[in-house]
Amino acid sequence: MRAAPGAPTRRAELAAAVDRLSAAGIPSARVDAEWLLAAVLGVGRVEARLDLDRALPAAVAARYEAAVGRRARREPLQQIVGWEAFRGLRVRLTADVLVPRPETETLVEWALELLPPPRPGVRLLALDLGTGSGVIACALAAERRDVDVVAIDMSRAAAAVARENARQLGLAEHVTVVVGDLSDPLGRGCADLLVSNPPYLPSAILSGLEPEVGAHEPRLALDGGGDGLRVIRRIVTSAREVLRPSAPLLLETAGGSQAGAVAGLLRAAGFTGVGVRADLAGVDRFVAGRA
Ligand SMILES: C[S@@+](CC[C@H](N)C(=O)[O-])C[C@H]1O[C@@H](n2cnc3c(N)ncnc32)[C@H](O)[C@@H]1O
Repeated sequence: MRAAPGAPTRRAELAAAVDRLSAAGIPSARVDAEWLLAAVLGVGRVEARLDLDRALPAAVAARYEAAVGRRARREPLQQIVGWEAFRGLRVRLTADVLVPRPETETLVEWALELLPPPRPGVRLLALDLGTGSGVIACALAAERRDVDVVAIDMSRAAAAVARENARQLGLAEHVTVVVGDLSDPLGRGCADLLVSNPPYLPSAILSGLEPEVGAHEPRLALDGGGDGLRVIRRIVTSAREVLRPSAPLLLETAGGSQAGAVAGLLRAAGFTGVGVRADLAGVDRFVAGRA
């Protein structure tokens, strides 16, 4: 339906949204405005950019206005649209979980390389500590059908999101979500891989983060204590108990010098073959070693 004279078109609403988001200091204003339009229309972003001279019904325009207002207050785009893509999976998100970052896809890629190769009739066990939305656990289970994943998070609300993602993705049989403190709920020597993207930011920098992160993502997902290593130290200390002999521990870090520091922690704890890998931006970010 073409817009009646005077009625707002998709083009006009989109332009107004871009102006509002730009004024709010959002560098990706155009793309975000398109994603929000797509979300309220219930279509993909490409479709939302077609036929811009169509009228936007008043009820949809009101929903768009509300969504743009949230983004202008610097809520993360993914929390507003309610999902993010991760290694080909569409993962549901709420304000209770970290928005999955693209670099974590590289962490999963390394995890898949570190797992022992599939053997007929043998199921492997991977642990994902601090699972948040469950992205790492779900990607591992989706890409290695012989792997069961125990996904642990201390946040009951985050665990509920992870559980729902596993269910919606048809992975519930192979992803078990547990509320708990790191590997405390687990037995000894049971795991073929321990992977974690833990909270790793030094507490002091949290107040200076972009509002999308500092004001809207859960502090429990970000705060790594005074030097950023509080949770990582605990994982390294307990990992050797839960891992089978020579099974890998793989961690995401804040990058740069923290990756070097974490590699040092692994070596000091007796891990062998400790290595560091860079993310797509070339920053040393991931650390792995064998128990
Ligand atoms: C950086 S987020 C990672 C979320 C998700 N794995 C990802 O990569 O997007 C860290 C997660 O660890 C959880 N967490 C923090 N401390 C924990 C602890 N002691 N035991 C279990 N989970 C913890 C937080 O609730 C948060 O969901």
